[in-house]
Amino acid sequence: TPTLLDEILDSTITLAHKAGDLILEGSLAIQSSHAAEESEKKNSVDLVTEYDVKVEELVKGELGKTWEGFKFIGEESYAAGSRPPLTNEPTFCVDPIDGTTNFIHGFPHSCVSIGLIYNKSPILGVIYNPHLDQLFYASKGNGAYLIQQGRKVKLPLAKPPKELKSLSKALIGVEWGSDRSLSLIQQKSASFSKLAGNPAEGVIGGQMAHSLRSLGSAALNYSMVAMGGLDIYWEIGCWPWDICAGSIIAQEAGGFVAGGHNAPLDNNVDEAVLNGRKYIVIRAIGDTPEEKGVDAQKR
Ligand code: IPD
Repeated sequence: TPTLLDEILDSTITLAHKAGDLILEGSLAIQSSHAAEESEKKNSVDLVTEYDVKVEELVKGELGKTWEGFKFIGEESYAAGSRPPLTNEPTFCVDPIDGTTNFIHGFPHSCVSIGLIYNKSPILGVIYNPHLDQLFYASKGNGAYLIQQGRKVKLPLAKPPKELKSLSKALIGVEWGSDRSLSLIQQKSASFSKLAGNPAEGVIGGQMAHSLRSLGSAALNYSMVAMGGLDIYWEIGCWPWDICAGSIIAQEAGGFVAGGHNAPLDNNVDEAVLNGRKYIVIRAIGDTPEEKGVDAQKR
């Protein structure tokens, strides 16, 4: 018999498809009318369009009707001043369009991300990229799945899952983020060079990653890790709605998620053993745990 979590999942998947249709409609409208050039700006790189707001209204409205009494944290509601504290109550955590910069530029890589938090931990996540018709979902203890063109597959795609024997075999997702203060960007760039640079010049553990990718959506980076397309996603400066759904999807696919900043994800560790596999956390910026906070993930 379906559990309450299954019911929430089913209705959230339907809703994510509806939200995805609106994202596609918006994407076409924006590209054909040059509307992006007039998009409102939180700062010169942190963009918001009328479609971020429209999609959030749709999602918030439907979730509120279907799951009365659940709390709601959303990127645009937060920006407009609605900032409920995180409690133990069931709370939806939503990014209406993750990858807004891509959306504005017509780079077809953005998604809606809907997470559910209970007792301060993510327990369900649905992420839909309408450009590729890829829907990623997971609920706690039930594995992670991809639905594409009506076909459902369990994640990760590789069976058995790929073993990442060393950093030198890794394809790593990184992001520039929306905080472009010089000191942060210098530190991030230094970290990127350490990951991608020549081992002879003393990069991390004398190893050089296969390459780095910066695809512009935190939620889809997590989804790529869940799928197995990225081995690691590493970022600083995400908001809860960027990572809520993605973190449970990656974990349910067998990934390891580490975060700092006293966030619900907090597990500020250097290494961990999970299901008999050893994970090393790649620290962002500098080397001491106190300075940094870790937003790292390694499968
Ligand atoms: C952003 C994207 C970006 C990441 C930022 C996020 P938005 O979300 O996920 O890839 O680097 O940290 O804030 O603004 O597109 O919803």
